[in-house]
Amino acid sequence: MSFLTPDAKRTDEPAAEIAAGARLLPRITIQAFCEHSQTAQLVESAIHDRRMSKVALTTHNGGIDGAVETYKSNPTPNLIIVETILAPDQIPVALERLAEVCDASTRVVVLGHVNDVLLYRELIRSGISEYIVLPATASQIVSAITELFASENAAPIGRTVGFVSAKGGAGSSTLAHNVAWAIATALRQDSLILDMDLAFGTAGLNFNQDPPHGLADALNSNQKLDQTMLDRLMSKAANHINLLAAPVALDRTFDFEEREFEQILELCQNTMPVVVLDIPHAWNAWIRQTLATIDEVVIVAEPDLANLRNAKNLADTIKALRPTENAPSLVLNKTGMPRRPEINAGEFADSVECQLLGQVQFDAALFGTAANNGQMIAEVAANNKINEVYRAIGLHVTGRQITHVGGKASGLKLPSFLKKRA
Ligand SMILES: Nc1ncnc2c1ncn2[C@@H]1O[C@H](COP(=O)(O)OP(=O)(O)OP(=O)(O)O)[C@@H](O)[C@H]1O
Ligand SMILES: [Mg+2]
Repeated sequence: MSFLTPDAKRTDEPAAEIAAGARLLPRITIQAFCEHSQTAQLVESAIHDRRMSKVALTTHNGGIDGAVETYKSNPTPNLIIVETILAPDQIPVALERLAEVCDASTRVVVLGHVNDVLLYRELIRSGISEYIVLPATASQIVSAITELFASENAAPIGRTVGFVSAKGGAGSSTLAHNVAWAIATALRQDSLILDMDLAFGTAGLNFNQDPPHGLADALNSNQKLDQTMLDRLMSKAANHINLLAAPVALDRTFDFEEREFEQILELCQNTMPVVVLDIPHAWNAWIRQTLATIDEVVIVAEPDLANLRNAKNLADTIKALRPTENAPSLVLNKTGMPRRPEINAGEFADSVECQLLGQVQFDAALFGTAANNGQMIAEVAANNKINEVYRAIGLHVTGRQITHVGGKASGLKLPSFLKKRA
């Protein structure tokens, strides 16, 4: 008896046939912890499979113990592959220790040497995504991963996070770009920034890029947009950061239908772990629709009265639009501006009735330099405390606020592979 998924079994088919109908895996990060060097070689050889062309894969030694040690102090990737040589009765216990240091969204595939149906059932019931019996082929491993992340019924991997200003110029674009940077460096997760301010967007400028009009071309593709086209329209803004840029031209106006961004967002979510939406400060049908449907909304405000009124209106409206989804959260930007009276952060957050994720102080020299050089704050001032604020916001919006801030897991958020499937 073999413990491979139905899809994995299909890997006996000739390689050409697999390639022809192959679904490409999204841009996930995979880390493998092997006990034997042959297994490491096997997993490494999987990267040559066409389906893995967008995947970032690394292999390490040490099996489950090695993984546990690593993730005590490092964020977990989208998928962990662990080889185990333990006896069947010890495997579930060892995996429980791994679960304690794993983020909730991380999936786990186990490579084992024991062909035991009871063990298989127990592991699957405890939330392990797949148990593959060795010896296996690289193609079998890739098929199992594809089934998890790219099959018809696989949940989209991407988390959509939108940043919107309570008042024009409050700093939502700057925050969106720097948080994407923090996610790239702290979590090593790929993100895609959508510059939705088509006429005036600054994402290209802030990353010192002059990219093609990615987002406008995607919108103009009249339903012909697919994964391949999306890949072509994206440009690389930095390591792990991709961009669908705004055309920033005024030769036409940008008036969209309410659901015009729906298909693009869906495609983006299928290919990128994090989708950052840089939303302009305006109020129209498509912005309202976007705010109603994305995973996380961050309202960016300066600590003054007009921002407070607008932030409160935005927060109330967004909560009413999506009563069962995550409530919007709040970031105060440009605090401590010299000589400017300001509303106290706690009072501001209380009035808006939103969780305050962080405060970014006003620093004309630092932000002016970053903006004029087309650099992120971390590039201009790597040790500035503001980077910790961006990192904390990045962890929160990617659902990691409870685990992984410096240390590890408070255990409040149950890793998905320990959640019993009733
Ligand atoms: N904490 C800060 N201290 C000083 N300047 C800042 C700070 N945050 C942002 N800025 C500057 O404020 C200006 C406006 O920022 P940004 O473009 O991010 O705002 P926005 O809310 O996206 O504006 P819009 O309403 O046009 O979308 C930029 O020049 C930026 O460099
Ligand atoms: Mg903006």
